[in-house]
Amino acid sequence: MSMTKPLSNHKTVMLQKLIPLLCLLLFSSTSIIAQEPEPILPALIPVPKTMQAIGNPFTIVQGTLILLPSELEGSPIHSTLNELMHTTTWLNGNFVFYEGNKPSTMTDSAIVLLLHNPENLQNNTHNKHLSHQEGYRIHVTPEQLKLEASTEHGLFNAIMTLRQLLPTEVEKEDPSRVSNNMIWTVPGVHIADHPRFSYRGLHLDVGRHFMPVSFIKHYIDLLAMHKMNRFHWHLTEDQGWRIEIKAYPKLTEIAAFRKETLIRRYGSNTYDNRPYGGFYTQEEIKDVVSYAAEKYITIVPEIEMPGHTSAVLAAYPEYGCQDKEYKVQTTWGVFEDIFCPSEKTFGFLEDVLDEVMALFPGEYIHIGGDEAPKKQWEESALAQEVIRREGLKDEHELQSYFISRIERYLNSKGRQIIGWDEILEGGLAPRATVMSWRGERGGIEAAKMGHDVIMTPGNTNYFDHYQGTMSNEPLAICCFTSVEDVYGYEPIPAALSQEEAKHVLGAQGNVWTEYIRTPEKVEYMAYPRATALSEVLWSDPSQKDWYSFWARLQHHFERLDNRGVNYAPHYEGQLKPHE
Ligand code: ACM
Repeated sequence: MSMTKPLSNHKTVMLQKLIPLLCLLLFSSTSIIAQEPEPILPALIPVPKTMQAIGNPFTIVQGTLILLPSELEGSPIHSTLNELMHTTTWLNGNFVFYEGNKPSTMTDSAIVLLLHNPENLQNNTHNKHLSHQEGYRIHVTPEQLKLEASTEHGLFNAIMTLRQLLPTEVEKEDPSRVSNNMIWTVPGVHIADHPRFSYRGLHLDVGRHFMPVSFIKHYIDLLAMHKMNRFHWHLTEDQGWRIEIKAYPKLTEIAAFRKETLIRRYGSNTYDNRPYGGFYTQEEIKDVVSYAAEKYITIVPEIEMPGHTSAVLAAYPEYGCQDKEYKVQTTWGVFEDIFCPSEKTFGFLEDVLDEVMALFPGEYIHIGGDEAPKKQWEESALAQEVIRREGLKDEHELQSYFISRIERYLNSKGRQIIGWDEILEGGLAPRATVMSWRGERGGIEAAKMGHDVIMTPGNTNYFDHYQGTMSNEPLAICCFTSVEDVYGYEPIPAALSQEEAKHVLGAQGNVWTEYIRTPEKVEYMAYPRATALSEVLWSDPSQKDWYSFWARLQHHFERLDNRGVNYAPHYEGQLKPHE
């Protein structure tokens, strides 16, 4: 007979975690002592819009029945639930598929999923969360664990919350569970939830340092855990081109590799003397795109233009303005190399973008547009001729012409462009979405012009910054951005009216990898700053509470530990910095 081993109840774990915080509250306010204590709710990140304790828990054991609408058989919802049952019980889920709106007979002790037709939802406050694209409800009683939504994405978010309602051990793979026959307790709660912003992203630069597919998938898993929904994959850089383009094989034969790499800080002039490179084949990219889609994450690929193009020009110098030997760069910074605005360059870019669009089905293609010095255009007869021919004022307007032409091409294929905020200079392409990185200014200007924006201001959203005293930290590019700085970030700039603010689709954290060579260091730089950002983007500003977040983060660290994430420990076990 198998042993039954109850896992530590969530509330107990939370109580242990919250003891220091409770002591702080007790000693700082006598009035709290007289009050009935609030029930301690599960430590969820991002915190849901509403959550109430409603009674006794539901338990998941081997063989717990899962009732799923038949239309979801074989869907990512089916596989995600199966995976959850597999990690909890180390057995496949015990699914029963039902036809119609809900199961005709309700079995005791079952997990039940309901997928509502949004047209049949009555428009009332009870259904407010369900009528949202990504909203969901969870209702937990001892008899039933009910997950409801009006979209598959909503149900997926509900399952991500359910995972966090379970003890943190759920994040650890443990084959002994099949014989231990554990009882998993889900606290009795009612949760109704939906996100604040539609774009909740994290970026990764694989140009400066290449990251393997296995890590990209892990990065996507962590995004899903935090209910983020966009992965901005920065695929091309001066130091390396990382995507196979079949029509242009030299992009992966030449542009994907550099001779050596700068070591230590910029300006050290010390190189490692080792060739470096790598790229993703189209098969690998298809695999990653479909992996992300199973987690309702859309990948936004970035193909940089007209600057940050030294590597491309090293492979195909005919698309540059200068008759010189270009090289895949081996150090960091901004380089003068730039695409020449010739017809053959546009032909090349359209060919490349055709292959990119075939791989990435999402609405957005990011075309870069940042840090493009105009010197080589100033010196180029061809660029000057285009300026004259098109009646442009200067090289900034030439960049606008360049980006607008690419936008027209992508729009003609049903796609939209995103560009860094430099694309405002010389005139914004008519339908472009602006990614504001040099502070909030570009985002404010674009929103006021009626363009959509995604906020990534450097001070709070650049996760390549230091997060502690320089002497105690691994090498980083510059600056200081703490978890608390990220948590304090408000994506809607105060300068925007309510109408203008509707153009702020959301925000993202950026992970540039000049000084990040390994997946472990990516994790160290991204987490838990991305955890803080996930709450900024999902929850209401009125719910923001640094002390509550800090306390929940302690619990969340156990989840990250169990997943083997090498997060930065600065906020572990200490109430910082205003204790
Ligand atoms: C950027 O950080 N160059 C967008």
